[in-house]
Amino acid sequence: MLAIRSFAAPARRQCFQASARAWSVQISSRRGYAKDFSEKDKVAKFHGAKGSDGLYTVSLIEGDGIGPEISQSVKDIFSAAGAPIKWEPVDVTPMLIDGKTTIAKETIESINRNKVALKGPLATPIGKGHVSLNLTLRRTFNLFANVRPCRSIEGYKTPYDNVDTVLIRENTEGEYSGIEHVVVDGVVQSIKLITRDASERVLRYAFQYAEDIGRPKVRAVHKATIMKMSDGLFLGTAKDVAKDFPNVEFDAELLDNTCLKMTTDPAPYNDKVLVMPNLYGDILSDMCAGLIGGLGLTPSGNIGDECSIFEAVHGSAPDIAGKALANPTALLLSSIMMLRHMELNDHAAKIESAIFATLAEGKTLTGDLGGKAKTHEYAGAIIARL
Ligand SMILES: NC(=O)c1ccc[n+]([C@@H]2O[C@H](COP(=O)([O-])OP(=O)(O)OC[C@H]3O[C@@H](n4cnc5c(N)ncnc54)[C@H](O)[C@@H]3O)[C@@H](O)[C@H]2O)c1
Repeated sequence: MLAIRSFAAPARRQCFQASARAWSVQISSRRGYAKDFSEKDKVAKFHGAKGSDGLYTVSLIEGDGIGPEISQSVKDIFSAAGAPIKWEPVDVTPMLIDGKTTIAKETIESINRNKVALKGPLATPIGKGHVSLNLTLRRTFNLFANVRPCRSIEGYKTPYDNVDTVLIRENTEGEYSGIEHVVVDGVVQSIKLITRDASERVLRYAFQYAEDIGRPKVRAVHKATIMKMSDGLFLGTAKDVAKDFPNVEFDAELLDNTCLKMTTDPAPYNDKVLVMPNLYGDILSDMCAGLIGGLGLTPSGNIGDECSIFEAVHGSAPDIAGKALANPTALLLSSIMMLRHMELNDHAAKIESAIFATLAEGKTLTGDLGGKAKTHEYAGAIIARL
């Protein structure tokens, strides 16, 4: 039982207890992981199947602003590469039902059926009482891990040209549990909730991911020296999970130390998968993106047990929407992560090498990378290299 400060008013205590009860219901309904897990028990394994036409159907959220333009590039390139994918466009216009932000039933059914979605950026409506749609998707599909790789791009000069980090962030609890109260006027309490279940799930996924990508070193990033109980539980769980992965080296590092070392010299992080609680992952993943030139080039995957959603990290860029100026690289790299998740590794490698070769050549780059090419011209250059 979590301790409550003695000055908490009874009504607020009830409110806290209600929140904690809601969490315990959520926690108890989570699946447990067998210790001797086999291939079929792998965390977040893709369970989609090809249709009778030999194609996988993927739900496509084109998104707002530049979303439709960059989605078109992905569709064109996938089609030219012969990727066995059929797109199912879905609408995620937010609806407020009983004060709760939700999305259309058909969209939820599509993603649950296909087990995988690719998502363009979504503009968050301001002042309409909606929760962020990204948060709504994460909650609706219980997307518990956020995977953010950041790799230096040849042809785009940044202070370091040797960055190759992989970060996995716990996506459902920690500081973002949304349990906050005014205790008394001028005193606010925000609960950082860490559970063994959610920690084990993301940690197990991190170890498994490290093995899958041939990078058998996992480092947990934490502040267990200060948050002895919450981060202590995350770290203790990491040590336990590590025992089930004897082929993966495990160690741990304090968050502040990681930030200092990574910005001084990122190279030592190129052989590791970093895994951490929610808030640390949110901040550190943007810091890694900064090392490779910003959010415009970084892909991500939101991983769940039943389905996963892959998305670019940048927003809808309303300032350049509809002008064919958008760079589709981040969404394209997210779609490569998606192909690998679906075990379509050959198609992923083929498209990925065409993207990197086009960027390295530097002749057909979009404006954000210092070039003059339109979105479709850049996509065309990638297609020419396939
Ligand atoms: N994952 C998401 O869906 C997501 C993430 C961040 C922001 N948003 C939403 O997007 C909207 C706009 O947000 P913002 O302006 O703060 O951030 P933004 O990422 O949309 O834009 C920031 C700057 O980067 C540029 N930029 C972004 N992506 C680009 C690309 N692919 N190619 C070329 N230039 C690019 C934009 O032109 C702009 O100058 C807001 O409604 C915000 O809530 C959504």
